[in-house]
Amino acid sequence: MPIKTMSECDLRNKRVLIRQDLNVPVKNGSISSDARLRASIPTIEQAIKQGAAVMVMSHLGRPTEGQPEPEFSLKPIADYLAQHLPVKVNFVTQYLNDSVTDAPVGEVTILENVRFNIGEKANEETLSKAYANLCDVFVMDAFGTAHRAQASTHGVAKFAKEVCAGPLLDAELKALSKALDNPKRPLVAIVGGSKVSTKLTVLASLANKVDQLIVGGGIANTFIAAQGHSVGKSLMEESLQDEAKRLTDLAKANGGEIPIPTDVVVGKAFAEDTPAVIKMVDAVESDDMIFDIGPQTSAYLANILKNAGTIVWNGPVGVFEFDQFGEGTKAIGEAMHFQLQAVAIR
Ligand code: 3PG
Ligand code: MG
Repeated sequence: MPIKTMSECDLRNKRVLIRQDLNVPVKNGSISSDARLRASIPTIEQAIKQGAAVMVMSHLGRPTEGQPEPEFSLKPIADYLAQHLPVKVNFVTQYLNDSVTDAPVGEVTILENVRFNIGEKANEETLSKAYANLCDVFVMDAFGTAHRAQASTHGVAKFAKEVCAGPLLDAELKALSKALDNPKRPLVAIVGGSKVSTKLTVLASLANKVDQLIVGGGIANTFIAAQGHSVGKSLMEESLQDEAKRLTDLAKANGGEIPIPTDVVVGKAFAEDTPAVIKMVDAVESDDMIFDIGPQTSAYLANILKNAGTIVWNGPVGVFEFDQFGEGTKAIGEAMHFQLQAVAIR
């Protein structure tokens, strides 16, 4: 399906509202990973070059709607963008009553966290229309949030005068369709991360397309439990065990498998200084939490990846933010790097 992109739109002197995913980790006002911000800056620069009055909106974290807690403010992100963009950057907290309709051409106006607005998560029409009224053109560029049907991602697009995809979203969609429509086989997908239930639907849709599915992170725990192992106090979704079993059976029926870890790295608390202990998967104790795959599992998965023709990777296989639980994700990344080089010299 051809999608209209931002570069195909005439943005000259128009009010352009860009939805980006600026949801970065912020602790005590400082940003610990700016990867998403660095990726988002070229879109803003391009819109300025096209002559727009640029407004940017994003969510940050999961605050309670109607309760604008300072810890979820986009202010530190606006400050970061002010430092990294060559133009004036404004930050506005009140914007739903047309107060930014005069956003200046050639400047950037960052809107406060959209999840402070009542109706954002429920994709309410009134709020969606209020966003749409702010702009002449709505640009969807938040790939990392594109799976959420919320007012700032989905609702606004129904009501804005003109809608297009930003360069980040466009590039991701092109890469995904290249990987999934006509992949070099075997096609391997790794689905990790901590948000379990939303990922199971991703798994179900991938299950029929891929030759090999690898689960990691919180999602793997549901599969481990579904095989009858204890996962202690780990993140896991009891109600999704049947679905996990169904997917495992489906993979087997198709001649494949969804391997569960044979060894894991556990800790007693979700904390930066919790000691990491490697255990076989059937030795997990009732007060353990699984935070990473073990070295034996890493080696097994690395071997699958090294033989892959195409790899689709979504989410880490452990709590990589804490060094002692980052080895599994690192090993996966290194195996992929090896595989990419192998492709390059073929
Ligand atoms: C993310 O970080 O995964 C995206 O920004 C989406 O955030 P959410 O899971 O809180 O909707
Ligand atoms: Mg996510």
